[in-house]
Amino acid sequence: MTRKLYIRTFGCQMNEYDSARTADLLAASHGLERTGRAEDADVLLVNTCSVREKAAEKVFSEIGRWRAWKEARPELVIGVGGCVASQEGAAIRERAPHVDVVYGPQTLHRLPEMIGPGGTAGLRRPRRPSVDVSFPEIEKFDRLPAPRADGPTAFVSVMEGCSKYCSFCVVPYTRGEEFSRPFDDVIAEVVALAEQGVREITFLGQNVNAYRGAMHDGRECDLALLIAYAAAIEGIDRIRYTTSHPAELTGSLIDVHGEVPELVGHLHLPVQSGSDRILGLMKRNYSARDYVEKVRRLRAARPDLSLSSDFIVGFPGETDADFDATMDLIDEVGFDASFSFIYSARPGTPAAELPDPVPLDVKRKRLARLQTRISEFARDVSGAMVGGRARVLVEGPSKKDPGELRGRTENNRVVNFPGPHELAGTFADVTIVEALPNSLRGALTGTSALAP
Ligand code: SAM
Ligand code: F3S
Repeated sequence: MTRKLYIRTFGCQMNEYDSARTADLLAASHGLERTGRAEDADVLLVNTCSVREKAAEKVFSEIGRWRAWKEARPELVIGVGGCVASQEGAAIRERAPHVDVVYGPQTLHRLPEMIGPGGTAGLRRPRRPSVDVSFPEIEKFDRLPAPRADGPTAFVSVMEGCSKYCSFCVVPYTRGEEFSRPFDDVIAEVVALAEQGVREITFLGQNVNAYRGAMHDGRECDLALLIAYAAAIEGIDRIRYTTSHPAELTGSLIDVHGEVPELVGHLHLPVQSGSDRILGLMKRNYSARDYVEKVRRLRAARPDLSLSSDFIVGFPGETDADFDATMDLIDEVGFDASFSFIYSARPGTPAAELPDPVPLDVKRKRLARLQTRISEFARDVSGAMVGGRARVLVEGPSKKDPGELRGRTENNRVVNFPGPHELAGTFADVTIVEALPNSLRGALTGTSALAP
């Protein structure tokens, strides 16, 4: 009987990517098949996030549920990976002794050895618990199997870690300093995915526009050049990148938005706050004006560009005036989506030492105002699309109605529309007929069945 693997993933797209690669790795080493049902699994992993306190706490409630299963079936293997693992290390086993392996974002490639003998002989309990949350940098990518495509879109991780050290953020401590994968390795991965039918790739990194990959001739490749090379690969028709830091948005990267049609007309560019005082305390290395100026230059290069962002509301000492500056920036830029959260003090980060006199209910009200404003912008953008045409990459059957298709526009909106299932994995031209709160409805135009 095939042994099964269950992975619960918290947090960002980097974690989604790491979970997918972990599944590939354990399929190759132990013949494990991924399942969406935890109760069926022989190996249970949780890939954790510690960016906010709530995310970290959810981890212990998840593995707490698995304790009784482990008592009933001692051969089960339970593992904790990701950023909480990196931060807590062996302490996880003190709080949850039924955990067998603790691995960090940079050591997931060592999981097969940590789990213990497997393969055709089947899975056995690891002889002793194993903890490895070190940062061996390049080793991870060299030891992961070649990626397998799962549909027409794929993530390609181009760099690990972050060296920005924003005062509120744990990532540099949990994922280590920035490290870029060599240019040739990234291109080989994109080619392999394109050969498997991938049409859209998203270059991933915590600070992806700091990418500086070594080229075989000794030069360094930045993200702008990498995008230009990837766009020339047969089959790759859409390129995205995330998450980028405004201070690393160079002139050449801005230019690429106007020069490379494969690069989508949408950019996620986290600003965090519109107050220069708060941006200084956050150690973001740009002012609100710098940000708005970069957006102006981006839109000069690509007039239809839509922007989304991350915001932290209620950073220690944020005043009404600071928050108003954030709302003014939102109005000036016109974001059409956001990931916005109340500030969460993370142990070990400099901001956690700052006095924080603002009451939680004030922070909550500010967050609600901000989210309402951005939803209004999003509704207006969706509304303006009605009656127009959009090119969507068809991902497969619609989640709401499997008789219909689901595709994504360049500005990341889901469009559900009736059409033949053979269009899955291709581009289709649709007319937008209705804007709903979280998706659009479309109708195929006459030519789409012929779309390449
Ligand atoms: N590289 C990105 C950038 O330039 O900002 C951010 C990556 S970070 C892991 C993802 C998002 O988590 C941040 O943009 C920020 O909004 C949020 N975040 C990080 N630390 C946080 C904290 N302590 N409290 C609330 N939100 C936080
Ligand atoms: Fe975190 Fe700032 Fe890096 S938000 S991931 S330290 S760019």
